[in-house]
Amino acid sequence: MDYQQLIEEVYNEVKSANPRGKVADYIPELAEVDGDKFGIALVDLEGNVFGVGDYEIPFSIQSISKVHTLTMVAHIFQSKLWSRVNVEPSGNPFNSIAQLEFEKGIPRNPFINAGALVITDALTSKFDDPIAEISKFINELSGKECVRINQEVLDSELKHSERNTALAYFLKAHQNFNNKVEDVLKTYVSHCAMEMCCVDLARSISYLANDGYSIYAKREIVTESYARRINALMLTCGFYDEAGEFAYRVGLPGKSGVGGGVAAIMPHKFSIGVWSPELNEKGNSVKAIMALELLTDKLKFSLF
Ligand code: DON
Repeated sequence: MDYQQLIEEVYNEVKSANPRGKVADYIPELAEVDGDKFGIALVDLEGNVFGVGDYEIPFSIQSISKVHTLTMVAHIFQSKLWSRVNVEPSGNPFNSIAQLEFEKGIPRNPFINAGALVITDALTSKFDDPIAEISKFINELSGKECVRINQEVLDSELKHSERNTALAYFLKAHQNFNNKVEDVLKTYVSHCAMEMCCVDLARSISYLANDGYSIYAKREIVTESYARRINALMLTCGFYDEAGEFAYRVGLPGKSGVGGGVAAIMPHKFSIGVWSPELNEKGNSVKAIMALELLTDKLKFSLF
């Protein structure tokens, strides 16, 4: 399979169809990003990199960082964690307050904001400097010092973090939050404000395509069994209330972020990072989803 030709075909078809959405603006700094940007990087398990378009330009990874933070905690807490967070698709927006209230402070899954806040709370309990540890971990996964926290995006989100603050207090009210709300929010917003390009992002999740072993870190990041479980969560919960649609159209484990990024993996073959900032009404990148749908259509296989 000529991956370079494949992603170029996909890129050109998406460019000419030119589906449009709306750049996220509830984090004001994200609204400044050029909506026309579009890049794809595919990394195989030998470390070969194939790229097209804006694939080397860093962007805000936002919720994709929840895959990395979940991995860090899976490692530490093993099965104990699952008394604090469930593993069911939410079928609701990523920042739903009603769902958390209804479910008595146990978030549906680790990728909705409430679940990710529990994970970040666990990291805050574990590490003196969780932000430094998360950056170090993602750099290790990518095999280079590539992570940069965008201070403007961080400040911008912190100034508008009413919903996440409300979620954190709901969690606290249900004794599912152990640290100071401000401390955990700062760490959460910092990992969301991390910037990486499509190549480094694809490299950073390559272990999930490789039974938990990272060819960049040169070590087992999680066991094969845990890698399968994280992939199952990405497939069922990675796109919030659009997870079913993504599984139907693309058929790969993936995770989106409101910066317009999508990271996905094809088990035992490759990982992929796609970025284009314009989002649909569910908060997922319009061009990235179309690109991945075309990619699995052209490959004639996905997970299924
Ligand atoms: O907490 C938030 O709302 C953002 N920092 C991240 C949300 C996000 O990326 C949802 N993904 N599509």
